Amino acid sequence: MKVGGGWRRFLFLLPVMILLPYLLSVLELHNFSTTVDQPKKHSKKSDHLVLGEAAGQGLRNRLQCQGTKSLNKTRHNASDRLNSGENVAFVTVFTVYNSSTDRHAEKKNLDLVTIGNSSYTKLERSMAILDSFIKFIQVTMPLSNVIILTDPESDLQIDKERVTAYPIQGEYSRDKLMLQRIRSYIAFLTGKLEEHRKQEGQGQINHYIFTDSDVAVVDDLGQIFDEYSSFHLALTFRNNKDQPLNSGFIAVRGTAEGLQKYSAFLFSTPPEKKLRYNKSFLAKGKDFLEEVLKVYTTRYMKASRMLGDQLALAWVVRSQPSFDSRRFSKPVAFMEKINGASVLFLPCAVYNWTPPEGAGQFHGMPLDVKVVHFKGSRKRLMLEAWNFFNSSPNIDDMLCLILASGRTKYDF
Ligand SMILES: *[C@@H]1O[C@H](CO)[C@@H](O)[C@H](O)[C@H]1NC(C)=O
Ligand SMILES: *[C@@H]1O[C@H](CO)[C@@H](O)[C@H](O)[C@H]1NC(C)=O
Ligand SMILES: *[C@@H]1O[C@H](CO)[C@@H](O)[C@H](O)[C@H]1NC(C)=O
Ligand SMILES: *[C@@H]1O[C@H](CO)[C@@H](O)[C@H](O)[C@H]1NC(C)=O
Ligand SMILES: *[C@@H]1O[C@H](CO)[C@@H](O)[C@H](O)[C@H]1NC(C)=O
Ligand SMILES: *[C@@H]1O[C@H](CO)[C@@H](O)[C@H](O)[C@H]1NC(C)=O
Repeated sequence: MKVGGGWRRFLFLLPVMILLPYLLSVLELHNFSTTVDQPKKHSKKSDHLVLGEAAGQGLRNRLQCQGTKSLNKTRHNASDRLNSGENVAFVTVFTVYNSSTDRHAEKKNLDLVTIGNSSYTKLERSMAILDSFIKFIQVTMPLSNVIILTDPESDLQIDKERVTAYPIQGEYSRDKLMLQRIRSYIAFLTGKLEEHRKQEGQGQINHYIFTDSDVAVVDDLGQIFDEYSSFHLALTFRNNKDQPLNSGFIAVRGTAEGLQKYSAFLFSTPPEKKLRYNKSFLAKGKDFLEEVLKVYTTRYMKASRMLGDQLALAWVVRSQPSFDSRRFSKPVAFMEKINGASVLFLPCAVYNWTPPEGAGQFHGMPLDVKVVHFKGSRKRLMLEAWNFFNSSPNIDDMLCLILASGRTKYDF
């Protein structure tokens, strides 16, 4: 492996080479246990960890790194975390495609990938992603429960403390999965509301955070429910004209009003049904989701495979006459009434941070990042990051690894 290569590269590196620590950090990468090399321009998807320059060096409020060593200590220490997550549950939709054709294909063409000491088939890869999703939560919010909404057919067996599978009938084919996801969320909230009603509001309050399973929760998220005490549900936004909202992270306050609002947003139910019991926060969350589902199915069915839910979310939000889309341009949290629900908008930069991958602007990683989202072909990086953390348990260092790898496209 060579550091540098040609004038162009040299000029590109020049501004940062002035900082000696940076240069050292490049050299140190040689010592990292996984094969490491510099990212190549236009290279195809990588089957091993690739670290480059960490973006955002020298910028205030961005994580400063020396190789995979963080120069900032941004996390609370472990003893502060022991009680984290007590009344917050994570909810994710997950299903395994274990059809006979898939299995046949797996046997014929093993298509193994290796991370650390383990090799994974395609099926094992998605299980490993779910597994590291859970492990990150166990580290940062050890008292949180994880609820996996799944196809009853998929026969998901997960034997872990605080993790439960919650089967929901539905249509889980790949091209309907995003639609099914909203439906599963609503079915789940409906079940929770029913529980609330039976307990007559006496049960323990549990807030819910609905996320994709390819996210790493790297800090305690329970604080959003205290810090912003009046929201029914929270969405993450970014400065993107066509897709300002990402559906990979939605928080719902666990009171009955919150749940109802959220799901109604996605799926319109007859009003008399909605008003059957006293609206609480849970209920508002459900209302909200129900509205989004209605918009999804009436406007964006063609996009059901990938983006329909995000487009529907954005449509519902923007159709609010008072809503000012310019608020998406600054990464600052704000609150807005949408369809009767108080919606908290949280910046993706902190609550849904995604490495930019490939070209494009990259201003580094905010020091207070709380959720890293390994969208698309960044999934290997999620497993590599867990693997790294597992052998050297420092979240900041691991964030440096993720940051330094942010330009790389991976093989799965
Ligand atoms: C790389 O590892 C070797 C042996 O473990 C060590 O002596 C050397 O100092 C390391 N280099 C850097 C730059 O960390
Ligand atoms: C992060 O670390 C850098 C390098 O040590 C330091 O200059 C900077 O002040 C730190 N930032 C914060 C917010 O602590
Ligand atoms: C960790 O937190 C505890 C309690 O807040 C504190 O007593 C301790 O000194 C902290 N340890 C470090 C290394 O900061
Ligand atoms: C997939 O099916 C095979 C054969 O029935 C079974 O051994 C395996 O455990 C299943 N995998 C999952 C993740 O359900
Ligand atoms: C990988 O395997 C080697 C040899 O079996 C072992 O010493 C090492 O701890 C393993 N590493 C991890 C990350 O499990
Ligand atoms: C709904 O419940 C809240 C809190 O439990 C209570 O304060 C409020 O009066 C109730 N509203 C109605 C219309 O019953």
